[in-house]
Amino acid sequence: MPLHRHRPARAIVALLASCASLSLVACARGTTAAPADEVVSTRGVVVSAHHLASDAGAAALAAGGNAVDAAVATAFALAVTHPSAGNIGGGGFMVIRLADGTATTIDYREKAPLASTPTMYLDAKGRISPSATDSGWRSPGVPGTVRGLAAAHARFGKLPWADLVRPAAALAEHGFALSGPLAQELNWAVDSFLAPFPASVAAYGKPGGGRWAAGDTLKLPQLARALAAIAEGGPDAFYSGWIADSLAAQMKAHRGLIARADLAAYQAIERAPVRGTFNGYEIIGMGPPSSGGAVMVMVLNQLELLGLSGLTRGSAAYLHRRIEADRRAYLERARWMGDADFTAIPMERLLSKAYAKELVAGIDTARASSSLALGKDIVTDAGESRETTHFSVVDAEGNAVSNTYTLEGGYGSGVVVAGFLLNNEMGDFNKKPGYTNTGWAIGTPANVIAPGKRMLSSMSPVIVTKDGALRLVAGSPGGRTIPNTVLDVVLGVTAFDQGLRDAVDGARVHHQWMPDTAYLEAGAATPEVLRALRAMGHVVKEEPARSQGDAHSILYDAATGTARGVNDHRSPDSKASAPPR
Ligand code: DON
Repeated sequence: MPLHRHRPARAIVALLASCASLSLVACARGTTAAPADEVVSTRGVVVSAHHLASDAGAAALAAGGNAVDAAVATAFALAVTHPSAGNIGGGGFMVIRLADGTATTIDYREKAPLASTPTMYLDAKGRISPSATDSGWRSPGVPGTVRGLAAAHARFGKLPWADLVRPAAALAEHGFALSGPLAQELNWAVDSFLAPFPASVAAYGKPGGGRWAAGDTLKLPQLARALAAIAEGGPDAFYSGWIADSLAAQMKAHRGLIARADLAAYQAIERAPVRGTFNGYEIIGMGPPSSGGAVMVMVLNQLELLGLSGLTRGSAAYLHRRIEADRRAYLERARWMGDADFTAIPMERLLSKAYAKELVAGIDTARASSSLALGKDIVTDAGESRETTHFSVVDAEGNAVSNTYTLEGGYGSGVVVAGFLLNNEMGDFNKKPGYTNTGWAIGTPANVIAPGKRMLSSMSPVIVTKDGALRLVAGSPGGRTIPNTVLDVVLGVTAFDQGLRDAVDGARVHHQWMPDTAYLEAGAATPEVLRALRAMGHVVKEEPARSQGDAHSILYDAATGTARGVNDHRSPDSKASAPPR
């Protein structure tokens, strides 16, 4: 990534202000003709869940920044404008591919506090206590976002760090106008999830106690102060400055586990990506502690062997193959996956085409197989019985960033410390060691809690290339549904010859081994196809339309250097932005 001269922060703030006050079309003026809900540009594109965050990224590009600079600016802006998932108190993964063809990833997943134990979420009767993992002071892992963004910036950024963080601090200080959906969401959060935590209600409730409405301005002064400190002091302001002091003191006061030593020890790690091939495309994804890259590659390897030629996305024949491939890949996830710094994962074998042959060997093209029969070696109880955000960036030179980060549940733990929401990521560990059922519980050793360990994730930021050239950047929220949502976009482009808008809009499919149920967004299959799948033995549940994931994606044409940004209408405030000419 060639170095450019640094531009002053006020250039970004000014550009952001101009973009924010203009319509999408005007903001993206100078872009080539495209449908109204796509942005096509040779100067780079940023697509995220909030228009102001996309604009912040586009402003960084306009100021001479590269894709990593734009990603950092977008991530900090989302921490303000997309409070359910944008964050500095959570963690995530960034996949980076440079225009020279090299690729890497940044793992900034949260870690279990040093005082955590394998059974810390079990009550006296050995039952998982959901209240402790779902919310409150004992649910957060040690946050990784600020270290992760700083690591990516230190390695690849061109613009000064402060220039990328200050715009977010300004957004938090001066506030921004709420959309109707975000106003409603905040009212709901304040009434329910944030209600037990006075600092959270003070931060996100309407001043004076009324109801938020569209057009109201949300100001976050405490968050502005924390962001200003991070802008000026770098990540150390978060991990060892007054922010760390405040977090640790409040944790202690509320019997939480994160101590100053946890924060001081936290490091983001650069790791080699997971790689696979499908139909002549290369898949560059996230490795452990995310299962996302491996699950996607295992599904694609099986589909390649099963053959998709002549099949359409809504056909029973395709959906049957897809469900069977999903079932097997997610079983391998449950069996093997966790933090590879703590547990041995046979990644080479799992990702190999030879292993895919073994996986597909038992697939009958006319009959559903049984998840229980396939995974009976790990199921210990056969009797039983989703907030995250993704953004994609491509710059004028073809450098690409695929970033998914999260607080885990919407608004994370519900706990606000020093102005920011803390995650509830500890719930992603296997909370009851040894207990795997036919519902949602997995208890395999690889993802059991240990001090300093990262919890297994399904986040699947991905970059796809063809003939050595950048083609697609995608990712999504949605917990365990994430690899499947991203696969729907990848398969739309690489197997079903869909344009990116159709690939993103298309109704989605999910099967995760257990529960042994295929979840189909309404529209994924006609009534006749649903009948055919059920006749094959599949348990199929129709989900509401547009309910799975939120895949803000970019398609790239290397011949012309043109990036096509497509936001996912499943999130109402989302937008693709390009730097103005
Ligand atoms: O890392 C994971 O897989 C989950 N904590 C992600 C949570 C998520 O996507 C919730 N969003 N809808």
